[in-house]
Amino acid sequence: MATGLLHAHSGLRYLVLLAGVAVVCYSLYGLITGRAYDRAMRATAASFAGLLHLQVLLGFFLLVSGRFYPQLIGHIFLMLAAAVAAQVPLSVFRRRPPEERTYAPHLVSSVVALLLIWFGVLAINRTLLGAGF
Ligand code: HEM
Repeated sequence: MATGLLHAHSGLRYLVLLAGVAVVCYSLYGLITGRAYDRAMRATAASFAGLLHLQVLLGFFLLVSGRFYPQLIGHIFLMLAAAVAAQVPLSVFRRRPPEERTYAPHLVSSVVALLLIWFGVLAINRTLLGAGF
């Protein structure tokens, strides 16, 4: 059971990373071309935040299944910070009228979240892509 969870947690990272890179690319594209903010931006950012939250949930299941050692504390705090960073523009924009929504906050938040994820994986001596990186 715990091994299955670890495999799921390990594998889901690639989807999280893919969604994060999609947010960086789409927000950069929106920013460079100066196009109006659209629903696809919100959907892409929501997928990234949603997958990240699912990953946090799997991580907590791993912890309660008995997998814990002190080094994991850094992993946990950095990943929680990443989940917050990915969520911030979505929550802020929900309260803003559509014409006040812009691409830049998504770009900043996704880059910050991806950096935090990178450091969070390094904190437990693993690599982001599992192949030396
Ligand atoms: C607060 C949220 C999280 C908790 C509580 C958590 C917890 C854990 C635990 C208990 C392990 C097992 C460590 C071991 O056996 O050595 C682990 C491994 C790992 N976690 Fe997390 N995690 C969280 C978030 C994340 C996120 C957001 C990502 C990446 C997007 C991530 C990526 C990984 C990776 C790559 C491993 C190594 C898996 C392997 O050995 O193949 N974790 N995590």
